[in-house]
Amino acid sequence: MQLPSSLVQLANERIEPFDCEGFLPGAGPADAKIMFVGEAPGETEIYNGIPFSGRAGVIFDSYLEDLNIKRDDIYVTSAVRSRPFKWGQTRAGVRRKYNRTPNQKEIQAHAPVLDYEISQVQPQWLVPMGKIAYQRLLGKSPRLGDVTGRVQTSPVQQWDEEAASYVWTKKNYNIFPIYHPAAILYNRSLEQTMKDYLNTLAAHALHT
Ligand code: URA
Repeated sequence: MQLPSSLVQLANERIEPFDCEGFLPGAGPADAKIMFVGEAPGETEIYNGIPFSGRAGVIFDSYLEDLNIKRDDIYVTSAVRSRPFKWGQTRAGVRRKYNRTPNQKEIQAHAPVLDYEISQVQPQWLVPMGKIAYQRLLGKSPRLGDVTGRVQTSPVQQWDEEAASYVWTKKNYNIFPIYHPAAILYNRSLEQTMKDYLNTLAAHALHT
């Protein structure tokens, strides 16, 4: 989706104080029925300009395969659209950047981008993948662990400039929280549970 340049400029200005690099818009058709929301792009995604194109992307593609849908059928974005990094050293002692989880200020800095994408696409289904996306959209309660793989209907949080805080949308969305693909990479025992969740999502969002 083509984001308004003023919105991108604002997002870049607000993320500037933090150790973040690049800017990668979400991808997919503007009338997608399902929007998947991740955490933030990593090194690979910023390098090649495609969301979920690194190691987690292989797992993300397997989600779509299980759902029997293609990237062109869905919209994929994340809470933060720049790559948060931290400096570290390789075993050979070379200084380099490593991916890290975005913090709340970084999530706020890019909140207007995600809000815009949601308002434009108006997806019937929002699929937050992992805790960062889930809490960005639904806050801390109910806990993600209590609702993963379950259908909920709920408003979502959007950033309010005047209040300088999140407010709830008037509109309700169908929400289906799932594991972030990286969680499966690090814990293969979640794989079967994830397949069961995707069957549930397909039954509700695709076969109705
Ligand atoms: N994790 C995300 O949340 N998004 C990406 O594009 C890659 C990894």
